[in-house]
Amino acid sequence: MILEVLKTNHSHDVLVVGAGLSGLRVAIELTDQYDVAVLTKVHPLRSHSVAAQGGINASLNPEDSWESHAFDTVKGSDYLADQDVVEVMTKEASRAVIENEQWGTAFSRTEDGRIAQRPFGGAAYPRTCYAADKTGHNLLHTTFEQALRKGVNFYQEWFVTSLVKSEKRVCGVTAFEIASGEIHGFTAKAVVLATGGFGRVYGHSTNALINTGDGAAMALRAGVPLKDMEFVQFHPTTLVPSSILITEGARGEGGYLVNKEYKRFMDAYASKDMELAPRDIVARAIQTEINEGRGFDDYYVHLDLRHLGKTKILERLPGIREISMFFADVDPIEEPIPVRPGQHYSMGGIHCDKDGVTPLSGLFAVGETACMSVHGANRLGGNSLLETLVFGRLVGQKVGVHVSGLGDVDECIVDDAAFAMRVKIQSILLRESGESHAEIKEELGRIMDNEVGVFRDQTTLESALKAIRFLKERYENIALPRCDTKFNYSLIRALELENLLCLAEVITMTALMRRESRGAHWRLDYGTRDDENFLKHSLVTLVDDYLKTEYIDVDLGQFEVMERKY
Ligand code: FUM
Repeated sequence: MILEVLKTNHSHDVLVVGAGLSGLRVAIELTDQYDVAVLTKVHPLRSHSVAAQGGINASLNPEDSWESHAFDTVKGSDYLADQDVVEVMTKEASRAVIENEQWGTAFSRTEDGRIAQRPFGGAAYPRTCYAADKTGHNLLHTTFEQALRKGVNFYQEWFVTSLVKSEKRVCGVTAFEIASGEIHGFTAKAVVLATGGFGRVYGHSTNALINTGDGAAMALRAGVPLKDMEFVQFHPTTLVPSSILITEGARGEGGYLVNKEYKRFMDAYASKDMELAPRDIVARAIQTEINEGRGFDDYYVHLDLRHLGKTKILERLPGIREISMFFADVDPIEEPIPVRPGQHYSMGGIHCDKDGVTPLSGLFAVGETACMSVHGANRLGGNSLLETLVFGRLVGQKVGVHVSGLGDVDECIVDDAAFAMRVKIQSILLRESGESHAEIKEELGRIMDNEVGVFRDQTTLESALKAIRFLKERYENIALPRCDTKFNYSLIRALELENLLCLAEVITMTALMRRESRGAHWRLDYGTRDDENFLKHSLVTLVDDYLKTEYIDVDLGQFEVMERKY
C-alpha cells in the first residue's frame, strides 16, 4: 500500500509539539498575538500530565519561602541543578498555582479555605498543593479549557516525525496524520518541543505508553544536543505488578514502608526524613531491601496506609485506593499495597536554557522533554507540574520575542523533508517479512530494567550498550503486520521504537561515562560523588552519525555544594 497524496500546505507562526501542560501553557501565552498550532499524537486530555497525582510545589505559606524551596531543590538535585533556573522556578511558583486556581482547578482546601499543602520528599516545609491524588488531571482539564477559550488550533492524533531545518534555523516539521496515513509538511518560524519524557525506554515505568521521547529523539537527529541523559528517576512506589504510580502523597499523608520482617526500614537509610527522603534515596533503600532478601516474594515491599484510617484515605487518596483495588486486588484501608521502584521521570532531555532556547535557532524545548537543568541529578516530587506551568508561560514569552519580525521560512525545504519521510515510511510498509517491533521493544525494556536501573556498574552498562546496538541493527529490518496506512498503530509503534532505541543508547553511554554516584545515577563500582571530575552536565550530540560526548559547567549560585544528608 502506497501512502496517500503528499500535502505540505500547513503554515503557522509557531508549532507546539505536544499538548500536555507545558505545550498548552506555551500555546495559551502566544495565541493572542500569533498563529499557533499544537500538534499532538493523542487527544490533549490523554497527555501524560493527566496522570500526575501528588501535587505541585509552591511556597504559598508565609512561613515558607522561595529560598527554602530553592535550597531543597538544589540539595535534592545533588547540586547538579543550575541554580539560576531553580531561582526562576521557585520564585514563579506561587503565581503559577494561583493562576490555575483562578482558572478553576479544584485544589483541596484547609478547614479555613486556603489551598491545602502536603509534605513531600526532601522538602523542609509542606509545600505541595494538591487536588486529592488527581492533581495533574485537574490542572490539565483547566489548562485545556483555557486553550480552547483562547482559540488555540489543534491537530489531534498527528504524529510528528521530524524537525525540518535550513542551515541557519528551524523551518517546520513533518507529521503523519494517524487517521489518513498522509505525511504532511508544516512550516513555522518557531517550533516548541513539549513532548514529555521517555520512560517507555524501560519495561517497568509509571509512564503512559505514549511517553517515547519523540521530541528528544527528533532534536538529537537534527543535531541538537541532549543533556544529562544518565539521570533517570525511579519512583520508589509503583504498584506490583503493573508499575502504576502510587503517589508520594501516600507517604506525605503518613504511609509507612515495611519489609517482609514487618519492619519500617527507612531509619537505616534516612533516619530523619524516613519515608519522606528524596526519591533517589527511598528507591535505593527499597531496592536494597529487596536485593538483600527482605522483600516479599523477593521483589517488592509494602506501603502501609491502614493507620491513616478510612476517612483520610477516602478524602486524600481516593485514586490510590481505586488503583490498588482494580489493579492489585488490594484495598489499602484493609491491607498494605505491594510496591517496588520503577522508572518515573527523565531528568535529562533537550539541552536548553531557562527560556527554552536550544542551540538550533527557532527551536525551543519545555517540560520533561527539555533539560533546563532545573532538577539536576534528582527531581523532587511536586516540581514537575510546577516546571510545566512556570516555564510554559516564560518559554511562550520568549518564543513571541523570537518570532516577531521574522520573515517566512522556505517552503521547499519542508516539501523535500516530507517527501523524504514518505520514502522512509514506505520502505518500512513495503517490507514483507522481518523483525517484530513489539519483540524488540520488550527486549529493550528488559535490558534497561535489569542493566541500567536503580543500581548500575561498568559490566551491566557495557552489556546493555552492546545489546541496545544489536537491537538497533535488528530494527533496520522490521516488518509490520499491516501495510496499509489508515490508523496503522503498528507503524506508529515502530516509529516510536526508533526513538526509544536511540535514547536508550544515549542514556547508557552517558551512564557509562559518569564514573561517580550522584542523585538517581548510582554506580556500584563508583559509590561516591566526585565533584572534582563530575560536577558537570553531560552533553551528547549526533555529528555525522557519530555520538559526540562532552561535559559543560553547572551554574552554581548562592547554595554551596555540600554533602547531602536527610
Ligand atoms: O508521587 C507523585 O505523586 C508524583 C509526583 C511527581 O512526580 O512530581
